[in-house]
Amino acid sequence: MNTEELKQTADALMAGDKGLLAMDESLNTCNKRFKEAGLPQTEEYRRKYRQLIVTTPGLAESISGAILFDETIYQSTDDGVLFIDVLKKAGIIPGIKVDEGTTAMPGSPDEKITNGLEGLDIRLNNYYGLGARFAKWRAVMTIGKNLPTEANIQANTEALAKYARLCQEDDIVPIVEPEVLMDGDHTIERCYEVTENAIKELFKQLEKQGVYLPGLILKPNMVIAGKDNHHKNSTDEVASATVKCLLANVPHEVAGVAFLSGGQTPQEATRHLHEMHVKFGKELPWPLTFSFARAIQQPALDIWKGKDKNVKAAQDMLAFRASMDSAARAGRYSVDLDRYPVL
Ligand code: 13P
Repeated sequence: MNTEELKQTADALMAGDKGLLAMDESLNTCNKRFKEAGLPQTEEYRRKYRQLIVTTPGLAESISGAILFDETIYQSTDDGVLFIDVLKKAGIIPGIKVDEGTTAMPGSPDEKITNGLEGLDIRLNNYYGLGARFAKWRAVMTIGKNLPTEANIQANTEALAKYARLCQEDDIVPIVEPEVLMDGDHTIERCYEVTENAIKELFKQLEKQGVYLPGLILKPNMVIAGKDNHHKNSTDEVASATVKCLLANVPHEVAGVAFLSGGQTPQEATRHLHEMHVKFGKELPWPLTFSFARAIQQPALDIWKGKDKNVKAAQDMLAFRASMDSAARAGRYSVDLDRYPVL
């Protein structure tokens, strides 16, 4: 474990007003998004789409690192340049999703556990050789009647900590993502309680595994009510609950915190991040930024429609959304700023 290299990578990922772009949808998730957008669910279309993303002009102005999926790390542009090399040339650090998705938890089938620890050391070694310098592992926790169970939180956070330790052994910065899902009609208070439990337990497990916190990034959900809850909390309420929960439970030593968007609209996710900076900017002990997938990509995907003639417009939209998130991180986002020129 080279702690100096780990810290350097983690700090570079958290630098400036930038954030991360999650473009690591698994085959299933990517195909699901393509299906919803009426696109063919083939390897070639996934390649074309990821090509669109990595070749977006100006992306590096707002994005410090991009998380790839296994299929994508081996893919190239039409001209035969590996995507990973396109990113590096642009000054974007390549990362890789290394979990192997979720399955129903034995004994509690409404909950999920994440797979992928077996053989992970060998895969990490290979990814480092290919140029990846950070990784991501996502655990999901479901809020429901009597859910999540203690056992689920325990199993998910233990796996996250083991993964983080293995990453650091290979000088790869781990992003740990304990995602409390927005599915359901729960209140913001309930989300707070579950998020707090998950993060508390996660840091206990990370300590047990001897994980080096300055070389680690936490990717949490924002503290927000469930999608089916009709009461919409204000931007201020979401920002305040989220920062309060993080301040109380995330050690100051971590390299940074980078949110997932979790099904919020791009504007909601951006507004919430902005509000956190405006209201709490000076109190934050770690960099606080974004690691969005849908909140950056979805509008661009909708424009692309699988057609070459739409690539430029889709890229413009992608760069625009990323720039809004960067503005939010700097606390200089506004609804007026977020007016995309003619579509
Ligand atoms: P969303 O921003 O779409 O929630 O995705 C982030 C992510 O990386 C999920 O693992």
